[in-house]
Amino acid sequence: MPRFRPHLQAIPPYSSAREEFSGSARLFLDANENPYAETWEPEAYRYPDPYHTALREAIAAHWGVSPQEVACGAGSDELIDWLLRAVAEPGQDALLTVTPSYGVYATYARIHGLGVREVRLEPDFSLPVDSLLAAAGANTPLAILCRPNNPTGTLWPAETIEAFVQKFDGWVVLDEAYIEFSSEPRGWLEKRTSQCILLRTFSKAWGMAGWRVGYMIADPEVVSLYYRTKLPYNLSQPAQARALSVLKRWPLVQESIQRLQAERTRLAQALAALPGVRVYPSEANFLLIRVPDALAVYKRLLEQGIVVRYRGTLPLCEDTLRLTVGRPEENDTLLEALCRIISS
Ligand SMILES: Cc1ncc(COP(=O)(O)O)c(C=O)c1O
Repeated sequence: MPRFRPHLQAIPPYSSAREEFSGSARLFLDANENPYAETWEPEAYRYPDPYHTALREAIAAHWGVSPQEVACGAGSDELIDWLLRAVAEPGQDALLTVTPSYGVYATYARIHGLGVREVRLEPDFSLPVDSLLAAAGANTPLAILCRPNNPTGTLWPAETIEAFVQKFDGWVVLDEAYIEFSSEPRGWLEKRTSQCILLRTFSKAWGMAGWRVGYMIADPEVVSLYYRTKLPYNLSQPAQARALSVLKRWPLVQESIQRLQAERTRLAQALAALPGVRVYPSEANFLLIRVPDALAVYKRLLEQGIVVRYRGTLPLCEDTLRLTVGRPEENDTLLEALCRIISS
């Protein structure tokens, strides 16, 4: 198994009040909470479960994995941040990733004093496995790959990922934030080996971006180190409860995914029919399009109160916009506006 920073293993974990006792008791006088707050804050006047026990069990049951393989964070962003800090030595190691991809990886690596080796995707956004392996070395202990990739929407073929995993020595973090929208909704679950860490989120398909809940599926040793070194109360009690309840609403979530997939197809076809517009294949809930003078188009859309993401500053993404797939009427409004702007 790849390594973590050695000093982490040796630190005695901070032991919070709620960790030392979490059963049922007559009185809880251990965590300095205000008992009168039961009146105005009945659900959350106590500290939350630092181990997210019920939520991890429910996530594990949903995907058919063990709760010891599941670790929750305040959005998958928190887990990205923790992984970078736990694996790589500042001033010495570098993150291995690709560009264009989700910008948080490189930004947080830099914040933590790490180098960043960003390998450019091929012009068609496929994964350049050989260049990625050539950029790897003893000081790249972790690679992060986003599948489907943000902002391109590409789902790199499983064989490509396998070819990389087989030859790369470090941790392979597969960010599967959008996996539920793809044609492989179980992502890398069945193919995972102990060096793979899967990142998932409740922010996208599950519709809970405001509650900030993400999780990783990883080897129990990774999960155990995480729970020994994360911030004690990183997930609020209401957020844990909400994620638990949304898991029970899977049929509803699934139905919305199907609708968005159908809308993705319809929107892609309609956009491709506009003069000069190129639509890239997407397995996520957004489409990357190339359009002449994208920055001007972006600004004209903004004037009409329509906010999309201008991605033209990223490598290989000149003149691109990233459009989130919305409800049919939202997509119609966007299409009408784009049609008017492009034909004028
Ligand atoms: C690829 C990718 N990973 C992770 C995240 C962060 O998700 P969360 O809301 O779980 O922090 C995002 C958010 O846009 C994303 O696009």
